[in-house]
Amino acid sequence: MPLKSVRGQMLSFKDDPFLKPASECYDHYQDGLIVIRDGKIIDAGDYSIVAPRYPQLNDIDTYSDALIMPGLIDCHTHYVQSPMLGSFGDTLLNWLNRYTYPTESMFRDKGVADEVARMFFRQLLEHGTTTANVFATTFETSVEAFFEESERYNTRMISGKVLQDRNLPDSLKDESTEGSILLSERLLNKWHRRGRQLYAIIPRFAPTSTPEQLRLAGELYRSNMDKGVYVHTHLDEAQSEIDWVRQLYPSHPNYTEVYGHFGLLGRRSIMAHCCIVQEDEWETLHRCGCGVAHCPSSNLFLGDGEFKYWEAKEKSRPIRFGIGTDVGAGTNFSVPRQLSEAYKVAMLHSHNLDALRSFYLATRGGAETLCLGDTIGSLAPGYEADIAVIDLKPSEYAEWRMRFSDDIFEKLFVIMTLGLDNINLATYVAGRKVYDRMRDRKFMYAS
Ligand code: GUN
Ligand code: FE
Repeated sequence: MPLKSVRGQMLSFKDDPFLKPASECYDHYQDGLIVIRDGKIIDAGDYSIVAPRYPQLNDIDTYSDALIMPGLIDCHTHYVQSPMLGSFGDTLLNWLNRYTYPTESMFRDKGVADEVARMFFRQLLEHGTTTANVFATTFETSVEAFFEESERYNTRMISGKVLQDRNLPDSLKDESTEGSILLSERLLNKWHRRGRQLYAIIPRFAPTSTPEQLRLAGELYRSNMDKGVYVHTHLDEAQSEIDWVRQLYPSHPNYTEVYGHFGLLGRRSIMAHCCIVQEDEWETLHRCGCGVAHCPSSNLFLGDGEFKYWEAKEKSRPIRFGIGTDVGAGTNFSVPRQLSEAYKVAMLHSHNLDALRSFYLATRGGAETLCLGDTIGSLAPGYEADIAVIDLKPSEYAEWRMRFSDDIFEKLFVIMTLGLDNINLATYVAGRKVYDRMRDRKFMYAS
């Protein structure tokens, strides 16, 4: 098998800077080299050390004024909401009823699902995202379209059918509770670990499932736990939602325990949002080993509240968390743009989320959250070769601004703060380049 390699400035995380001294948590090479065989990294490090080991190397992609990083990881999003970005939101529950449910209802049609899946993958890869944890919707068509497109790129993705059998329009509701579980099981058996695809059991959130559906979902999860199947849902996003859950499930001590009661909490259970969380809920999430997706642009857009990472990372019971775009309540497909929102949300509480910890979250932190920390999210031997190449001079202003920043994390902070949409130069999936942006910016009136 021929070798492929990527050369340039390189950054990769090896530990959690929320828990360990920052300097122990990353490798940074001014001139790095990654060597890839058969979709996996077989060597990575300083060019002058790694290159002599491979005298036969001739296929080298070289980048300057850029930073080679692991592909970015989006821990929570909805591809089926791509058609409704920027739909006016007042409250979560109104927004769901007015825009979200009618939009998702369109995905009964395989043609719609195929077209949106194609667009969604192009958006992700353009923004350097190579793995995402993604809601489809009720219909088999929506799951099939997603995984078929993922298979075409060979991306490592997590998705599945959404379970929702009450409190939403008939056009989107599961026709039968038992049928919804049987369909999930069939899709799980078809897609889980087929190539790089991974399956998640997805109750939308507690209010849209009957207790019977949650019970059966928990059973399905537990009987497939040893295969590495996921649970993915929403938790503690908005006060109105929490009040509704209390009405629907009055005998449970809190929202988290509703999922716990039905056996839905485990290491591969990923909870989106967690904005309004009681201490006993953090303890349950820690004890069960659940991961959380922090979705700042969504939380700001719907005015729900904010994920408090300093609570989540409390050293006595730390929670794994990553970043979620949560399209379409999130307002764009870019993980780095979420980082700039996460920074501002934290600042309102006098906490500083620096670029080092931010880009950890966008890469290795996301992988750890999804229990894929030994598979993706790092540029090291044995890892799958998913790579994003971040442009350190993506605009005329950025190019000028970089003159005043030497340190790589200062540069990354500029990049995330500017919140530009074109910071990704190239994306590799399992060692294959799937996206490449032309660098030349041409202006009509330039002399
Ligand atoms: N809670 C239940 N469904 C949804 C959804 O689609 N988006 C968001 N942001 N929250 C939800
Ligand atoms: Fe969501």
